Amino acid sequence: MKKRLLVTSALPYANGPIHLGHLVEYIQTDVYVRFRRALGHEVAYVCAADSHGTPIEVNASKAGMAPGAFAEKWRTEQAEDFRRFSVDFDVFYTTDSPENQKWSWRVYRALKQKGLIYAREVEQLYCEKDARFLPDRFVKGTCPKCGTPDQYGDVCEKCGTTYDPRELAAPRCVLCGTPPVVRASKHAYVNLRESNVFGVVQEWVRAEGHLEPAVRAQVQGWLDDLQDWCITRDAPYFGFPVPPEETEYAGKYLYVWVDAPIGYLASAENFFATQRGLSPEAFEKSWLAEGADAELQHFIGKDILRFHSVFWPAMLWSAGVKRADRLAVHGHLTVNGEKMSKSRGTFVTGKTYLESGLDPELLRYFYAANLGPGIYDIDLSLEEFRNRINADLANNIANLASRVATLLQRAGGPVTRAPDEEIRRTTLAMLQHSRAAYEALQYRDVVRNANQIADLCNKRVQAAKPWENPLGDAEQALLWNAAKALVGIAQLLQPVMPRFAAGLVAAFGATLPAWDGFDPFSGPVEIKGKPPQIARLDARQVARLIVTPPADEPQKVAKALSPAETASKASAKPAPPPPPPGVIGYDDFARVELKVARILAAQAVPKADKLLQLSVDVGEPAPRTIVAGIAQSYPDPAALVGRRIVVVANLEPRPLRGILSQGMLLAAGESPNLQLVSVGEGIAPGTRVK
Ligand code: MSP
Ligand code: ZN
Repeated sequence: MKKRLLVTSALPYANGPIHLGHLVEYIQTDVYVRFRRALGHEVAYVCAADSHGTPIEVNASKAGMAPGAFAEKWRTEQAEDFRRFSVDFDVFYTTDSPENQKWSWRVYRALKQKGLIYAREVEQLYCEKDARFLPDRFVKGTCPKCGTPDQYGDVCEKCGTTYDPRELAAPRCVLCGTPPVVRASKHAYVNLRESNVFGVVQEWVRAEGHLEPAVRAQVQGWLDDLQDWCITRDAPYFGFPVPPEETEYAGKYLYVWVDAPIGYLASAENFFATQRGLSPEAFEKSWLAEGADAELQHFIGKDILRFHSVFWPAMLWSAGVKRADRLAVHGHLTVNGEKMSKSRGTFVTGKTYLESGLDPELLRYFYAANLGPGIYDIDLSLEEFRNRINADLANNIANLASRVATLLQRAGGPVTRAPDEEIRRTTLAMLQHSRAAYEALQYRDVVRNANQIADLCNKRVQAAKPWENPLGDAEQALLWNAAKALVGIAQLLQPVMPRFAAGLVAAFGATLPAWDGFDPFSGPVEIKGKPPQIARLDARQVARLIVTPPADEPQKVAKALSPAETASKASAKPAPPPPPPGVIGYDDFARVELKVARILAAQAVPKADKLLQLSVDVGEPAPRTIVAGIAQSYPDPAALVGRRIVVVANLEPRPLRGILSQGMLLAAGESPNLQLVSVGEGIAPGTRVK
């Protein structure tokens, strides 16, 4: 049966350019969409700019623009970046649309109708100078726990403690630097613990296929400790007002995270209405209704999992809309083993990549080669990138194509021969594997499969040396088979590198049919032109990706320090006398932050027989990746899932085998008899060990 799918990528904030981190997600999704289309399925690929919220409103005002115009400027720019990386949305709309206001009010009213919304008076920091309440990221001050200055209102970057912004010492408004006051305001909250809605979310989380097991474990942790959700914000705000009948909250706006996911539905509705002539009612019935046979699949990053796994199913259910059939969650991009950073120049934008002259399809290929279904971070090491492109594409696949085409050209016309069993069997087996691998988001297997076919053909061509003599019958047969195998490789890589694949099949006079039952090993091969070349990359070329900002940036940060902070830095207390040798003071111990972590997933690190990579919940919004030398003591990594262990949470992250390890775990004994230090079930992830 022809399947129908509504596929989404997260809606990027209309607040800046698309960077290579974003592109992990959009490329992952686009590859999936192209694969499903190659199967002959009907796919609507929907995205939009997320146009609302405080940062956009504030940045627009700094730029002297109306927020709508500001968001539209970025939306246009982002659309162009996506196009150049072949991320081929059917629609790239905006959340600031009439369709979205309609849907958002509908969801709000449905939640209200179900008795899930209640009012609560909350105290928040308020800047009298700017006349606005300050979201957590708009307050900075000194961490109440460790005393580090210049920390945001929600979490200390130094010690990792999360707190209420009111707890900050010496708080100040990020916009104007004045100390805020505390003010009360009445807000709408959603009670998600009510049994009907809780049951629906719980059931959705537990059902097979919606979430990867590691992701499910993380979400289950949130459900076990569920907080109500504040869904309104005070003016000034860029967003939708609460529905007009809600006089209790007059003048307030819906929180951006209410209308953002609803933007998936609104954008899809807009697409079907304007491009497919489908009325909103018909669209809803056919694509969104409970029990509709169309699948809904969201691709998101691990940082926004909570919104999509706890709140979103509740919203959909309340409005009578089906829940997602799959939530595909990916990890974050690191560059050269570190978090992307503006000052180090590793915050690479799509534009910088394009300006460096590198082909966007090379990035697509590199991401595919490193992407699996898990929430592991992926690293763009410039050296790995170069090696990978050179070894796989330049030396293996493109080189094979060019040799085969040049030699077959000498035949002077179409060639038809019988299949070589080894080449045909391998190609068809790889096509079949890859189909399952794409479906499972195991793209790195697809890439490996393509290279396996090329390896075999290169080996056979190398042994036969068809360039040494005039083309005999056996040589023609081999080249015909290699050409057919290349058409198989093109079919396999087409979702990842659509332009390269199209060029490849065109050169061999072929076309790519739908995937099912595809067997290229029949009919003539006629060389119709040069296959696409991929030049070897040199280090200089990839180094152009890193553009460090001018040296005056750090000074700006210093200037932003308030006079009070500068003074406190200068007048440091005299140091206490050092403890006797071999003994540490309590302060030394307290600097090591030991925390309980729950293991969400564990797997071997390729080509490192001592290492495992773990994804662990340390009670933070997103899981951390930790690489540990415990593989020989735990030969069955899957058995570790669910264990509660102890980690050093404030250790400087460092790359191990290209994976950024964000902490260290505690273990006793020597390999292979190591044992992890563990705590019992009753202690929540994130709990301090002291
Ligand atoms: N506007 C929200 C999403 C609303 S969806 C209803 C948002 N926008 S974002 O621009 O910050 O991020 C968009 C997507 O890009 C998210 O899924 C996010 O996880 C992903 N990425 C942003 N930076 C990333 C990396 N460094 N690495 C991988 N993905 C990252 O969140
Ligand atoms: Zn202020």
